[in-house]
Amino acid sequence: MTVELIGSYQACAVRALDQRLPAADLHPCALHQAMRYAVLGGGKRIRPVLVYLSGAAVGAAPETLDGPACAVEFIHAYSLIHDDLPAMDNDDLRHGQPTCHKAFGEALAILAGDALQALAFQVLGQDEAMVADSALRLRMLGVLAQAAGSRGMAGGQAIDLAAVGQELSLAELENMHIHKTGALIRASVLLGAISQPAVEPVVLERLDRYAKCIGLAFQIRDDILDVIGDTATLGKTTGADRALDKPTYPALLGLDGAREHARMLHEEALASLQPLGPEAEPLRWLASYIVERAY
Ligand code: IPE
Ligand code: IPE
Ligand code: MG
Ligand code: MG
Ligand code: MG
Repeated sequence: MTVELIGSYQACAVRALDQRLPAADLHPCALHQAMRYAVLGGGKRIRPVLVYLSGAAVGAAPETLDGPACAVEFIHAYSLIHDDLPAMDNDDLRHGQPTCHKAFGEALAILAGDALQALAFQVLGQDEAMVADSALRLRMLGVLAQAAGSRGMAGGQAIDLAAVGQELSLAELENMHIHKTGALIRASVLLGAISQPAVEPVVLERLDRYAKCIGLAFQIRDDILDVIGDTATLGKTTGADRALDKPTYPALLGLDGAREHARMLHEEALASLQPLGPEAEPLRWLASYIVERAY
């Protein structure tokens, strides 16, 4: 049942993203096509699903969640376009298709990323379907800006690039993952939860702890899949981390050590949700999915 629920939220997310992206025939067409290609070309929609699930867990109105769900996915799509560029991971394949810069050229790919980042903030500020007063919109803008910026995802990516060829300690590796991937996942859960303005602080704190754990576990699983996954299933070239000499959990702890670390985080995520009732069941399911997923 939960699988169907997640599937329906993924479909909701794709519909909402499609509606908020500029049309492919709107001038400048090539830029809008590159944006649509990067966002609609595929992906698991984990971050929008987290917005929907955490919003639902605290009784937020479903129609108000589309805006925050799209905003986090726009930031995510932008981060992947830039992550794949030659100056960063230099990847040719994403979602089983040529990466954005391979399909549209580097300059348009950079601009598509820039424009998606701007669109994310535009949506939080102005989306008409959101039931949010100015104070709530401002709070959401702050949450997303912090998660995306130099103290969040972009900062984590800078740490990642500086770490190439280095031997990081476990604490340094954790810090890198918490920023480059964890920050946006944490923001997704937080944006869903604060969409219900009456959410209790103690519940918010529990959800935030859950989000921190699954955010880190998500990147550990991504690192594991880069080693054990296959390119056809993942839709991105495996073995890329080792080829680029990236510090990863499997490189530092071995595959079993990395799996054990993810398992501990999974347990901690479930423990964080312990005071919540059946309304948090889909979040529990998602935590298991994150550490077990095959793509
Ligand atoms: C990939 O994220 C990059 C990381 C932050 C690990 P996802 O695995 O969520 O990417 P898609 O959108 O589902 O392809
Ligand atoms: C990417 O991490 C994190 C962000 C895009 C912020 P990776 O470089 O490991 O992601 P993949 O493996 O290319 O999807
Ligand atoms: Mg990278
Ligand atoms: Mg990459
Ligand atoms: Mg990776």
